[in-house]
Amino acid sequence: MTANAAARLLQHYVDNFRRLPWRSAPGEPPPDPYRVLLSEVMLQQTTVAAVAPRFERFVARWPTTDSLAAAPDADVFAEWAGLGYYARARNLIACAREIVRRGVFPKTAAELLTLPGLGDYTAAAIAAIAFGEPVAVVDTNVRRVVARLHALSDPTMRKVADIVAAMIPSERPGDFAQAMMDLGATICRPKAPQCFACPLADDCAGRALGTPEAFPARKARLARPVRHGTAWWIERGGAVWLVRRPDKGMLGGMAALPGSGWTDRPQSPAGSLGTVCHVFTHFTLELRIERRAAPEGDGWWQPLDQLAEAGLPTLYRRAAELALDAATEPRAAA
Ligand code: ADE
Repeated sequence: MTANAAARLLQHYVDNFRRLPWRSAPGEPPPDPYRVLLSEVMLQQTTVAAVAPRFERFVARWPTTDSLAAAPDADVFAEWAGLGYYARARNLIACAREIVRRGVFPKTAAELLTLPGLGDYTAAAIAAIAFGEPVAVVDTNVRRVVARLHALSDPTMRKVADIVAAMIPSERPGDFAQAMMDLGATICRPKAPQCFACPLADDCAGRALGTPEAFPARKARLARPVRHGTAWWIERGGAVWLVRRPDKGMLGGMAALPGSGWTDRPQSPAGSLGTVCHVFTHFTLELRIERRAAPEGDGWWQPLDQLAEAGLPTLYRRAAELALDAATEPRAAA
């Protein structure tokens, strides 16, 4: 690796950086740490394209750590609806409240790691981007860049962090971190990397071998098990009965249709309005939707013309769409 690789990467970033609502342009003062925290939490597991409009809405509603700390949990969950991985919303609220309790926003990766729900990646990203700490920021994109650069099949995150730490320039570590992430997202992509446009191409051992795509080696995917459940569509006087899921577990704290637990046992589709198939990280859920007359569990009547404001996660939004479509579909001729 030549000594000026980091300088070339930074220059490439200056020329090509993606303008994103949580970013400062290269060389400008760093962004507000609250906005960096929020964006980095949203960007775990969710694409930049999906996050950008949701980030803008979120900060318009809660522009500061203090305002988020004071928000009712249910409002934050509703705002998070559709972004998935709802434990992130819970952690974010806990994080904001802890920062307010301490009276200062922690500035180093080591201090940030002590906040609830922040892992190595997020703590390092905030420290580098918002506070200019020269610390290695390693996500899966960065791991791929480094694995190719050094032709490593299966480097540990620790090993990647050590390599990245040795590359960090003394100036603008936040821009460097984001340059590495952008490189992985836009050029050093998992498939068909755009080596012709890469500022690190001349340093890249994977490219020199002619097989950059082979690094890091792909892991065999385990088959996703299928789970099954039933959700109840209970409608009365232009409203539907909704419940709140228990705080712990899948979709914890989110608004939902009431229903059975989820099991490994397939359920008969007989008597249902239809089935929604939803892919979670560790399993696929087949959720049967069944009409019922009487309310089930603790809940509330949500007017159908205000269903969008209920904050239903995608699974239940799709279930509701299915039920509403079933109600309006013309019946097949006998
Ligand atoms: N992915 C997660 N955080 C990012 C950031 N700050 N810039 C680019 N990609 C990212």
